[in-house]
Amino acid sequence: MTHTIQPNNPEATPAPDATDIPAAAQPKPSPAPAASGVPAALKRRIPKYSDLAPLMQFKKPEFSKEARLKRASTIWELRDIAKRRTPQAPFDYTDGAAEGEITLRRAREAFLDIEFRPGILRNVSKIDLSTEILGKPSRLPVGIAPTGFTRMMQSEGEYAGSQAAEAAGIPYTLSTMGTASIEDVAAAAPNGRNWFQLYLWTDRDRSLELIERAAKAGNDTLMVTVDTAVAGARLRDVRNGMTIPPALTVKTVLDASYRPAWWFNFLTHEPLTFASLSRYTGTVADLINSMFDPTLTFEDLDWLRETWKGKLVVKGIQTVEDARRVVDHGADGVVLSNHGGRQLDRAPIPFHLLPEVKQAFTADNSDAAIMLDTGIMSGADIVAALALGADFTLIGRAYLYGLMAGGRAGVDRTLQILEKDMARTMALLGVSSISELTPEHVRLLNK
Ligand SMILES: Cc1cc2nc3c(=O)[nH]c(=O)nc-3n(C[C@H](O)[C@H](O)[C@H](O)COP(=O)(O)O)c2cc1C
Repeated sequence: MTHTIQPNNPEATPAPDATDIPAAAQPKPSPAPAASGVPAALKRRIPKYSDLAPLMQFKKPEFSKEARLKRASTIWELRDIAKRRTPQAPFDYTDGAAEGEITLRRAREAFLDIEFRPGILRNVSKIDLSTEILGKPSRLPVGIAPTGFTRMMQSEGEYAGSQAAEAAGIPYTLSTMGTASIEDVAAAAPNGRNWFQLYLWTDRDRSLELIERAAKAGNDTLMVTVDTAVAGARLRDVRNGMTIPPALTVKTVLDASYRPAWWFNFLTHEPLTFASLSRYTGTVADLINSMFDPTLTFEDLDWLRETWKGKLVVKGIQTVEDARRVVDHGADGVVLSNHGGRQLDRAPIPFHLLPEVKQAFTADNSDAAIMLDTGIMSGADIVAALALGADFTLIGRAYLYGLMAGGRAGVDRTLQILEKDMARTMALLGVSSISELTPEHVRLLNK
């Protein structure tokens, strides 16, 4: 996607030198100070209607979804809207992380603890954000990460995510714990690039069935998540008594009284069904534990590599050694990720790990793709990751905040915000395409 930067930004247009201004347009010399010594222009007077008229820009307040979303110009502002509109339990399930939530906080801070090093006097009138990932083009260097239970956050769930990704020309990843089936997502976004995230089980028949369905539905990439030997301790869910689907208790009914739209949507749509399981009722921790298999080893990865013919990506890589090892076992790419801080607290921060993995892959002459997630809340975060060697990035919460703020239109808004951020950041850095970004554009502070 090429962005044309118009030179109409007042900040970008230098003020003309007074000598360039025709004499007729030159400001008139101020009248001589009045006898009292106070210049006439500083004397008080009654305002005239003609002075006030141009200042009066009262607009009719707009309450539509579109107006609400348009008012958000950052992902944090979408989060504020999401929080107002979503019951506490599903909001906290999304927003929260494991234990003291230290990993998530550090991951977000890592993107802030940098300084960009811009180049000046470059022609940045056109910014190209397109890239290639795993052998195919993507209009933007970001895709949608797999997230479970998405229709619980807002009833359009996976349909909104996959259709927004299709419209934006970027990949969408359906989770094994998604609340729409592989086939339904493929039908909802038939021209989209759909990937499938697998929680691998040592019960190979169960895994095989899902893999075959994913291939049949046209998914070109399988992303196997490996940072979930057991469930992380998501303390907000424990405190909220979070269940799937949310139970009607006194607390939730009270909560419903000021979030009626969410409950109306939830109760008037199809009950939650899962990509890989039939209907489930129980606590989140129980469901997650039934999904995760603590007996998995690299042998299971080898089996998967032989079985899956498309691109294979391993998600949840947290050390350089493991990045190298999964590539040795046949992975086409890695996702440097700590699961959005939802598993091991005080885990390595993907943004810090990135330069080391890039260096190792370069030394190995490996062309395996390096993707990164966790903590991305702006397009500038994405640009920083690309500069330090990421080939691609994924967003989890950033798109879920948009979803909770306004369904499909909210996810569209997330992607618009990130796209605008990226184009602006690159122009201000003096680069017009992703391939021009280098580690020279970023200085790490506090490291
Ligand atoms: C609500 C939620 C559900 C998630 N479910 C899954 C999942 O089912 N499978 C998976 O591999 N990762 C899952 N993740 C992790 C994301 O794929 C991604 O790694 C993480 O959200 C990235 O961090 P970010 O939210 O800061 O962008 C989930 C994340 C969130 C926030």
